[in-house]
Amino acid sequence: MEEAFMQRSVTCGELRAKDEGKEVVLNGWVHRNRDHGALHFINLRDRYGITQVVVDDDASESLEKMARSLKMEYCIAVKGIVRRRPDEMINPDMETGEVEVKAEEIEILSECATLPFMIEDENSAREDLRLKYRFLDLRTKGMQNRIRLRHEVVKAIREFFYKTDFYEIETPTLVKSTPEGARDFLVPSRIYPGKFFALPQSPQLYKQILMVSGFDKYFQIARCYRDEDPRGDRQLEFTQLDIEMSFVKRDDVLLLIENLFNYVFKSVMNIDLPAHFRRLSYQEAMEKYGSDKPDLRFGLEIGDASSFASKSTFNAFTETLKSGGFVRYIVAPKTEGHDYTRKYLAELESAAKIYGAHGLAWMKVENGTINGGVSKFFAGLEKEVLEETGAKDGDVILIVAHNDFKKCANSLGAVRNRLGADLNLIKPGFEFCWIIDFPLFEYNEDEGHWEAAHHMFSMPQAEYIDTMEEDPGRVKGDLYDLVLNGYELASGSIRIHDIELQKRVFRICNFPDDVAQERFGFLLDCFKYGPPPHGGIAPGIDRLCMILAGESSIKEVIAFPKNTAALSPMDDSPSFVEQKQLDELHLAIVEKKKDE
Ligand code: AMO
Repeated sequence: MEEAFMQRSVTCGELRAKDEGKEVVLNGWVHRNRDHGALHFINLRDRYGITQVVVDDDASESLEKMARSLKMEYCIAVKGIVRRRPDEMINPDMETGEVEVKAEEIEILSECATLPFMIEDENSAREDLRLKYRFLDLRTKGMQNRIRLRHEVVKAIREFFYKTDFYEIETPTLVKSTPEGARDFLVPSRIYPGKFFALPQSPQLYKQILMVSGFDKYFQIARCYRDEDPRGDRQLEFTQLDIEMSFVKRDDVLLLIENLFNYVFKSVMNIDLPAHFRRLSYQEAMEKYGSDKPDLRFGLEIGDASSFASKSTFNAFTETLKSGGFVRYIVAPKTEGHDYTRKYLAELESAAKIYGAHGLAWMKVENGTINGGVSKFFAGLEKEVLEETGAKDGDVILIVAHNDFKKCANSLGAVRNRLGADLNLIKPGFEFCWIIDFPLFEYNEDEGHWEAAHHMFSMPQAEYIDTMEEDPGRVKGDLYDLVLNGYELASGSIRIHDIELQKRVFRICNFPDDVAQERFGFLLDCFKYGPPPHGGIAPGIDRLCMILAGESSIKEVIAFPKNTAALSPMDDSPSFVEQKQLDELHLAIVEKKKDE
């Protein structure tokens, strides 16, 4: 026999004035228990809402005693009669605020230990406490709302695809370790000593193989694993909406994604997005916004200072330009209530230095001319500087000189982002944009060779193919990123489907043919059998939900995330395992020597 308990007839979120007089049973958690002598007001909560339960002063002694014994977060059942609250007691902030339930019977379903923090709308406890008691943290209204939002996003995504002829196909999570950018998580094989599976960094190769198999439109909500340091928008394991299509060109993929996000934003947030998103080339994004993921909710464009910097007497500028480097500027605008103090300018400089700037030069615009900072090196050029930059009284011109374009641009991009936030320039809302025409290769200075900027399966643009090896740094790829409010939301590309071209890209990335065959032989073999032209993309679901929820950490939209130290304080993982398990897996733990 099952244990009997008073099972709910309604949830804590649904009673309204029209239900007056009904006998109902509620199940939920004691959110608050206010004791007014013989009278008790119990706020009972479940994920649908909160209902006020009243134990009246005419209640039986046993019921009153029961009410008195209820502590916060006890799980209880209440049987009672719905009644309208007196007019002066109606609570317009509560959906059920017109009514209350007069309790006739209360049953404690389970008790609750002393709470580590109060279950409030948002939890202000420190993060590790929140994550250790995640089961309680998840009871807060904020987390409940965000988990619901995530559910609705995923539901809308599936709805969108189910209306099309895409197939949802699962790919394995025990896969071959293939270098894809980040470090792999490895899974030792018990049956084959010394051999390992890897957890997939993404389903990239499998989705390409599915194209070769003829499943020309595929999607999957896929769990991905990367052994990298977690931070605001990164976790060790995360979820992608993974998409691949055959017989498509870049614009087909972009259009699909625009339609998808239009659908998701309309169904989840009732927001109408533009039918098409703005497109910026990588070069333009870097020049204007100093970032390949620009936040377009505010302006503040970066400009080229070389015309006036080359005529200045400031060596750092003139020498940089002579040696082929870059001198670029941004104008920090005059803003009511905001002073550009030395301290603040030093903070901006620190932000720039993180991205490689040697310094952040500045000059203030006062009384129609430039003043302070490096202005003394611009004697006679004052008018030209003001005309060129468009700076007005109260503005500050900020300048970075660097031999490396990316470092110069990114440093000013970081300053731009700081200014956007500090000066409250960021408009509310959602600004999507596509970044296209990325470089295909990046030079890895530490390892001394070229590597793929995105991954090695992306197609070089046609005009670069013949001469790719001569100057890999020049080659642009058929790559695209979707950016939302300054976050990289999705990345994708048209793929290589030609064995020879694929091998050439492997070689440029320091994978000679024999190594490439060892690592990627299965893909190359499959490309022998009529691979179709194909391409795809993968939006990050955690990042999407984070942005929709207005949060800055993806942990806020993941039920059980790892902390910044890559640990799970709730279940204490990772953890040691028994020697027997290690033996079965043919593994031995080697103690690290102190100086290692
Ligand atoms: P990429 O590595 O750019 O591309 O990842 C695609 C998107 O996945 C999300 N993302 C992450 N989210 C949380 N934590 C992480 N550690 C993390 N890493 C990535 C981001 C990112 O834009 N196979 C390719 C896609 C393709 O070419 O189709 C890929 O994985 O939102």
